[in-house]
Amino acid sequence: MTAPLAIDVRGLTKSFGGTKVVDGFDMQVARGDIYGFLGPNGSGKTTTIRLLCGLLTPDSGAGTCLGYDVLSESEKIKREVGYMTQRFSLYEDLSIRENLEFVASIYGIRRARRTVGETLEKLNLADRAHQLAGTLSGGWKQRLALAAAIMHKPKLLLLDEPTAGVDPKARREFWNEIHDLAAEGLTVLVSTHYMDEAERCHKICYLAYGKLLARGTVEEVIEQSGLCKLKAAPTLEDVFVHLMRDVTDNFAIKKAG
Ligand SMILES: Nc1ncnc2c1ncn2[C@@H]1O[C@H](COP(=O)(O)OP(=O)(O)OP(=O)(O)O)[C@@H](O)[C@H]1O
Ligand SMILES: [Mg+2]
Repeated sequence: MTAPLAIDVRGLTKSFGGTKVVDGFDMQVARGDIYGFLGPNGSGKTTTIRLLCGLLTPDSGAGTCLGYDVLSESEKIKREVGYMTQRFSLYEDLSIRENLEFVASIYGIRRARRTVGETLEKLNLADRAHQLAGTLSGGWKQRLALAAAIMHKPKLLLLDEPTAGVDPKARREFWNEIHDLAAEGLTVLVSTHYMDEAERCHKICYLAYGKLLARGTVEEVIEQSGLCKLKAAPTLEDVFVHLMRDVTDNFAIKKAG
């Protein structure tokens, strides 16, 4: 018997102001996988993440997230998902500990003091627990946001560009944390513009203009692109530039037509 999928959605579509920003999107993510979500600015990654965790309702399409129906069971999904938003959304004028205590109270976490203490230790935040969030550097802010997202012990972690603007060392450390969490059984969907991060994912997909252009392991995506016939040892970045050239041409033709 195959393991149940953490995410299994088909044909998700969402429009804003008459423009389809997610267009017939399919995604299957196995439990315990780190799944990379790639695509240019405005391609629909954040919108898709919000559709998956029940913050937005799709116009059409169907499927499940953690076994719950994305159309009718969004409250159950929200309880079991940790969502780290693209922009820092904690309180700058509260300390690290106060932010986590606040989040713990929102989730109604029992033995909150102990859970906050354990989370501070787990993410190496204990030494800075009294520092105001607003005075933290980008890397530490992201670490705090990750702590807030995992404190209620979610089964699925949705990370929306968690390392944007973070220095390479902090990015590497952040990714080590992600791998540790996945090793504990957490499923992770992570959007990123960094190719080195994509290469640390078990699987990836690439979205443009709301449509899925490629998916699979990094090796499969490179292989499926056919670029190996045109270029020696193409990189993932080469593949995405190549894919975008085709899709931008098609989009321009459609608009002109
Ligand atoms: N609430 C909204 N109302 C209207 N348009 C929206 C809304 N949310 C997103 N959009 C539009 O939908 C499109 C997709 O946006 P989205 O934020 O999902 O892209 P993204 O792939 O996450 O981009 P980025 O890499 O820049 O974060 C964009 O054109 C955006 O302007
Ligand atoms: Mg986004």
